Amino acid sequence: MDKSKILKALKTVKDVGGGGDIVSNNRIQNIEIEGGKIKLTLFLTTRERDDKLRIEDECFDALNKIDGVESVQVVTTGPQVVQGSPDAKKGGHERPVDFQQPIPGVKNIIAVASGKGGVGKSTICVNLALALRQRGASVGLLDADIYGPSLHILMNVYARPQPGVKKEIAPVVQHGLKLMSLGFMTDADLPVIWRGPIVAGVVKKFLQDVEWGELDYLMIDLPPGTGDAQLTLVQTVPLTGAVIVTTPSEIALVDAEKGLKMFKQVDAPVLGIIENMSTFVCPHCNEKTDIFDSSGGKRISERTSTELLGQIPLDPKVRADGDQGKPIVRSDIDSPVTKAFLEVADKILAKYPSEVK
Ligand SMILES: Nc1ncnc2c1ncn2[C@@H]1O[C@H](COP(=O)(O)OP(=O)(O)O)[C@@H](O)[C@H]1O
Ligand SMILES: [Mg+2]
Repeated sequence: MDKSKILKALKTVKDVGGGGDIVSNNRIQNIEIEGGKIKLTLFLTTRERDDKLRIEDECFDALNKIDGVESVQVVTTGPQVVQGSPDAKKGGHERPVDFQQPIPGVKNIIAVASGKGGVGKSTICVNLALALRQRGASVGLLDADIYGPSLHILMNVYARPQPGVKKEIAPVVQHGLKLMSLGFMTDADLPVIWRGPIVAGVVKKFLQDVEWGELDYLMIDLPPGTGDAQLTLVQTVPLTGAVIVTTPSEIALVDAEKGLKMFKQVDAPVLGIIENMSTFVCPHCNEKTDIFDSSGGKRISERTSTELLGQIPLDPKVRADGDQGKPIVRSDIDSPVTKAFLEVADKILAKYPSEVK
């Protein structure tokens, strides 16, 4: 049985809310094919039983029309009500949960995402992790950017991860953070050939088989865009929330908005937006220049009713120090950039507290 035929048939099934079909909206969690038998697992976020039944029925009909199909089974799952999320406060709603597993000992899981590459997602992830650490929290950082890991460079790590005591892999500790990245293990150009299922496998393994221990925050540096790693993440662990990084330019905003939409579609909470490479202050004359336009973060925040967590200035020192494995929050504690990161950290600490002394 050809999977593309199955997907083509499923594309005729409309998602809830009138916004596209269930394939384009990433509702297909799994398809098992055995001869003429198909088992389809759908990831639905709708709370309405009628909507669920309608989608199940339509999938069932669409698949049964394919030549050679003998039997069809349609199973639906949905996201968990996350502790502390706005949904949990509403009293929750019945949802089947058998796939999202919290990581024991890890209190908050924060994904750092962006619509496109090069906007400073990894830089933000590392410096925000260090800012939270500076405030006394215990923090881990998982580089889930499988195609372009950069944590080894940003944190100057050359050590290889060792076996853990209770779990398969122990994280590498640097600057007081527990770190894990594919960049610690392989030649950096190897993963480029990897396909979706392998990416999903690596992300799952790093979440489940790394000895993260007790953490107030586990920060996850996601690949840009809305692909397999994002989906695996929201399906594997209950996210506290996603932080979307964007530059102020309109072109980056369009992509950031897509990222926001993806998290909202799978019912993963979004903590807010960070605008990076915001105003540049000339070190010689102190004149301010908006190199990548101005206030884009504010515009998208208003457009999407999402909080603007902070604006990180453009500063050549961020790149220079970052390239040398010296994140600015550590290398220059008085810089305006470090202050901006600490302000974001304080917002996160206030919203998603842990026992910080
Ligand atoms: N606020 C900033 N000011 C100056 N350079 C920055 C800033 N944020 C990121 N950079 C630089 O931009 C480049 C891309 O950042 P990176 O964090 O690798 O982006 P991404 O992970 O989104 O691809 C890096 O060279 C980084 O040092
Ligand atoms: Mg990166």
